[in-house]
Amino acid sequence: MRSTPDKATDFEKTSKPAPGPEHRRSFVIKAIALACGAIATLSPFAAGVWTYLDPLRRQSKASTFIRVVSLGSIPDDGIPRLFPIVSDRLDAWTGFPSEPIGAVYLSREKGSPQVKALSAICPHAGCFVDISAPSDCFRCPCHNSSFTLSGAMIQPSPSPREMDALDCQIDESGQVLVKWENFYTGIATKVPRA
Ligand code: FES
Repeated sequence: MRSTPDKATDFEKTSKPAPGPEHRRSFVIKAIALACGAIATLSPFAAGVWTYLDPLRRQSKASTFIRVVSLGSIPDDGIPRLFPIVSDRLDAWTGFPSEPIGAVYLSREKGSPQVKALSAICPHAGCFVDISAPSDCFRCPCHNSSFTLSGAMIQPSPSPREMDALDCQIDESGQVLVKWENFYTGIATKVPRA
């Protein structure tokens, strides 16, 4: 039996007409506009976050060779001499140009162009190591660790390891470059800090 206009079935009352092509086109245009708006809003935000994190990114590039002194400034008598490590320093988001960031003992034997570099930082707890007069050994003023002039431990020693050797090289103009690194203190193994 057919339904009359005033006596429509439940199905006829609730069903809606299927969206036509015009409706679908308008939906797609709205979606594209929404996506473009989101990209335009998020791009400066993403760039800001990248810039904000950039110092941390640059700080992770540790352990570079730093020019310390000319080869001729290191007497070839086998006795280590103390030199500052000077570099631009980055402390989170603040840059400090040409500041001392550490110190190194450099030595070379008679007539040798080979340079030996030892970090002046004590492996026990991080104090600066002195050379004790008359230059026969290294001594740390904090807890009396002692080391030979080649950096080996003299027992008894609170330091758990010998002095930390650093890589170095001579460039074509005769400058000594040292690969400056900080190492964890208080442990027997030489582990670079990140
Ligand atoms: Fe050098 Fe303790 S820090 S002996």
